[in-house]
Parts: sequence; C-alpha cells; structure tokens
Amino acid sequence: MTIAEMMEKMIVLCDGSLHDINHMIGVWTYARTIGQLEKLDQETQYILEAAAITHDIACPFIRDEFGHTNHKRQETEGAVMVRDFLASLPEDQLERIAYLVGHHHTLNNIDGADYQILVEADLIMNACEKGWKLDRIFPILCTDAGKRIASAVLPAD
Ligand SMILES: [Fe+2]
Repeated sequence: MTIAEMMEKMIVLCDGSLHDINHMIGVWTYARTIGQLEKLDQETQYILEAAAITHDIACPFIRDEFGHTNHKRQETEGAVMVRDFLASLPEDQLERIAYLVGHHHTLNNIDGADYQILVEADLIMNACEKGWKLDRIFPILCTDAGKRIASAVLPAD
C-alpha cells in the first residue's frame, strides 16, 4: 500500500471530522519532514509515515464509547484497529506500526528513531492546537530537526 493510498483511506475513515483530518495531516507532515531531515532509511521512513497517518485511528471509537479521549485506551484499541486497517502489509511492518500506534503517548522506553519522531510530530501538533509554549515540549525532543522545527513553530514565551 502506498502512503497516498493509506492517506486516502484514513481521510475517508475520519468521516468529515475536520479536526481529526487536520491533526492527522499535520502529524504526518511533521513526521515525514523530520524523518527525511534525520535521514531515516526508506523502510523506517515508510513505517514512521504509516504510523503517523494511523496513530489516532481509535480516537472516534474511544470518543463514542467513553465521551472523551483516554490516552491509554486510545493506544490499546489503536494497536488492534491498525492491524485491520493495514492488513495487506507484511507482518513485520504491521507489527512495528501497531507497536508505535500502541505506544505513541508512552514516553519512557522510546526504542527507535521512528518512535521518537512520531512522538515529536504529535507533540508539535498538540502544542499548536492547545497553544502550548515551546518549553513545555522541548525537553522531550531529541532530534535536531524536531528541535529546529518546534522552535520555528511555537512561541518561546
Ligand atoms: Fe495525535
């Protein structure tokens, strides 16, 4: 499945929720950009972009069931749902993407550049949406590209 095909499928799944669609596109754009600037290999870049597109796949479901977004449930339900959504991918890719979707709010034990960059891209978008200042997320950023982009996007004080 190409990234563009995945993107179209995810936009359709968002069912007209502009907030969800715009958040997803923003996280994907930052993840894709940081991944390329950090010179990820092609396979890791693909997994990162796939995880960025699908990272909040469980959000509408969790909102309907529980009336709010519960981070832990979002991770566990998302890891299950993404396997179905991307079922045509090879198992090794699916396993890593499901792991990333299942841990994208978990900040201890980040075990790879794909994981770190997904967290950074989601943090930058969340900070934009919630009006956070740079210093609130800066300590969590590890990549040079992520630090540069966050510094350019978010107010310092
Ligand atoms: Fe998100």
